[in-house]
Amino acid sequence: MEKKYLFSPGPTMLPPEVLLKMAEPIMHHREPDFEEIFAEIREGLKYLFQTKNEVLILTSSGTGAMEGAVSNILSTGDKAIVIRGGKFGERWGEICKAYGIQFIPIDVEWGKAADPGKVREILQSEPSVRAVYTQASETSTGVKHPVKEIAEIVKKHENVVTVVDAITGIGVFDIPMDLWGVDVLISGSQKALMLPPGLAFAALSDKAWKFAERSNLPKYYFNFKKELKSTKKNQSSYTPAISLFVGLRESLRMIQKEGLEGVFRRHEMLAAATRAAVKALGLDLYAPDSPSDALTAVKIPEGMDGERLKDLFFEKFGITVAEGQDRAKGKIIRIAHLGYYERLDMIMVISALEMLLKEMGHHFQLGAGVKAAEEMFMG
Ligand SMILES: Cc1ncc(COP(=O)(O)O)c(C=O)c1O
Repeated sequence: MEKKYLFSPGPTMLPPEVLLKMAEPIMHHREPDFEEIFAEIREGLKYLFQTKNEVLILTSSGTGAMEGAVSNILSTGDKAIVIRGGKFGERWGEICKAYGIQFIPIDVEWGKAADPGKVREILQSEPSVRAVYTQASETSTGVKHPVKEIAEIVKKHENVVTVVDAITGIGVFDIPMDLWGVDVLISGSQKALMLPPGLAFAALSDKAWKFAERSNLPKYYFNFKKELKSTKKNQSSYTPAISLFVGLRESLRMIQKEGLEGVFRRHEMLAAATRAAVKALGLDLYAPDSPSDALTAVKIPEGMDGERLKDLFFEKFGITVAEGQDRAKGKIIRIAHLGYYERLDMIMVISALEMLLKEMGHHFQLGAGVKAAEEMFMG
C-alpha cells in the first residue's frame, strides 16, 4: 500500500475539515454568500496577523505578496535594505532589482540570524533608505530572524518601514504586528494556514499605507490600494481562488478555536521535540542558535549522501521532506512542523529518519530520537 505524507515546509498536510469544505460545489464570488465568507475571513485574518488593519488576500503564491510589498511601498529613487540569509532573503533583492530599486544587502551566513545592529548602522549613514526587507523565518536555512528588534530600530525613522516575509512565521510563532510596529507583514496559504498553495496575504500599518499612497512604481494586478477598496466591500478586485477562500474560512475557524497562544505553544513543542530527537541521533542542527519553530534543518553527517537520504524518505515511506537549496544542497534536510501537525506526526517522521540513517550506516542507538521526542512531549 502506498501512503503519502508531507513534511516539507510548504505545501503542508491539510485538515480533512478544510479539504471537505473545498470540495463543495463552487459558488460565485459576486453573490452575497461569498461576501459573507469574505467578511468572516477578514476578521479571522486580523486576529491571525494581530492587527486592526485589513489583511489583503491575493490570489497568487506568496511571492506575489512579496512583489507587491516592493511595488506598492517604494518609489523611484528609494533605496532598500535587504537581509539576505538564504534563498528567500535573496528573493527580496531580486524583486528590488526587477523594479530598479537599489538595495544595500546585509549578508548573513546561512544558518545564522541577522544582526539588528547592522540595520541601525546602515540607517544612520543612508538617508535615502525607505524600507528594510527581511524574513521572520528563513525557510531555506531554518533560521528565525529578530523581527521585533529590527522593527524597534526602524520605528525610530519616520521615513522607513519594516517589511516582513512571514510566510513560514504567521501561525507558527508570535509576530504581533501592531504591537511591534511591523509595517508590512506577508504570508502564504500553503504553510501554517493549512491550505493548498494559491493565496498570498499582506497587511499594512498606517505608516505603510502612507507609503502606498505615494508609491509610483509600476503595478497592475498587485495593486494594494485597489485591493483595499475591494476588501472593504468584501470583494476581491479580480476573480479570487474561490475554493481556497472557502477553505480559509474553515482553517481560520480552527486556528481561532485553538487560540493563537495554543497554536504557538504547539509549534514550539513540536520544534523542540524534533530538535531534541535529531541531537539524540548524533546529528547537528543547521541553525542551532536561532531556529525557527516552522521547520528543523538538519546537517547531513559527513560522508553521507544527503540527496539520497531525502529520496529514500519518499521511496521507502512516502514521506516528503525538503532538501537543502543552493549552497546547502546535499548538506541538509529540512523537516517541517508547521500547520496541521501534532506530536505523533513528528514521532512518525523521526522514526523514519532513524530507520533510514541506520540503513545508510550512521551509528546511533535505534529509538534514541523517538525517545528524546517522547520525553520532550511528556515534559
Ligand atoms: C520564507 C518564504 N518566503 C517566500 C516563499 C515563497 O512563497 P511561494 O513559493 O508561495 O511564492 C516561501 C516559500 O517556501 C517561503 O518559505
